[in-house]
Amino acid sequence: NQPNQDPQTLQGRHVVVSAGGTREPLDPVRFLGNRSSGKQGYALAQVAASRGARVTLISANSALPVPSGVDVVEVETALDLQDAVRDASADHADVVVMAAAVADFRPRDYLEAKIKKSHDPGEEHSAPTIELVRNPDILAGLVADRGAAPSPLIVGFAAETGDASGDVLSHARAKLARKGCDLLVANEVGRDVTFGKDDTLVHLLRPDTDEARTVGPASKVSVAGAVWDEVAHLLRDRTP
Ligand code: CTP
Ligand code: CA
Repeated sequence: NQPNQDPQTLQGRHVVVSAGGTREPLDPVRFLGNRSSGKQGYALAQVAASRGARVTLISANSALPVPSGVDVVEVETALDLQDAVRDASADHADVVVMAAAVADFRPRDYLEAKIKKSHDPGEEHSAPTIELVRNPDILAGLVADRGAAPSPLIVGFAAETGDASGDVLSHARAKLARKGCDLLVANEVGRDVTFGKDDTLVHLLRPDTDEARTVGPASKVSVAGAVWDEVAHLLRDRTP
């Protein structure tokens, strides 16, 4: 890939974006899921395509329309998402952005037949216990798999609130250090209910500086633009 004069361009780059929220099946009709809509990941895919990138969008259970010019791979579970992200990343990816909400746990057992409640007399109040096991940390796995060969830039997301043990930025800093990624987009959640639900406030953190760039409250498309500005800059820096 050649450096380009336009500082915002992603021309000639292959970008991989995961979006949406994974679902972990319990039985043929039920799953454990989360409320992620996929909006931020889809906005990232759309803006990257508009800046000339080849875009692979790994989409977990989102109802949103696929932006034009974007290749989509649909997945359901965290394990499916991991396979799809690894495959796309091995296909000469320049950057992988993990915007998806990945389930930390999945039910240990998948039951082939629908779970039924007991109708036996005396068992009217009985209920099953669902045992969970950990899912792999896909982002940390991408970082761990980095070899000497050109490996993609890795971008993580984090939704954080301040609490007694620290503010949003200190939690985000700790997560960036734990994950070892090149850029962390920390979403400040639940700070101000007047934010429109399409608007978001994020801090962009890098491992090599204590300074964070704050963006917003702004639309998810604006946030996507700021993330790609930062990524384009980091990619240019590492291109020999
Ligand atoms: N992530 C991942 N695989 C997982 C869980 C999370 O790749 N099994 C990614 C998300 O896509 C996101 C980043 O890791 O880019 C941070 O996710 P988050 O849930 O905030 O972090 P966790 O490490 O799971 O920590 P916790 O939920 O305990 O705060
Ligand atoms: Ca998590």
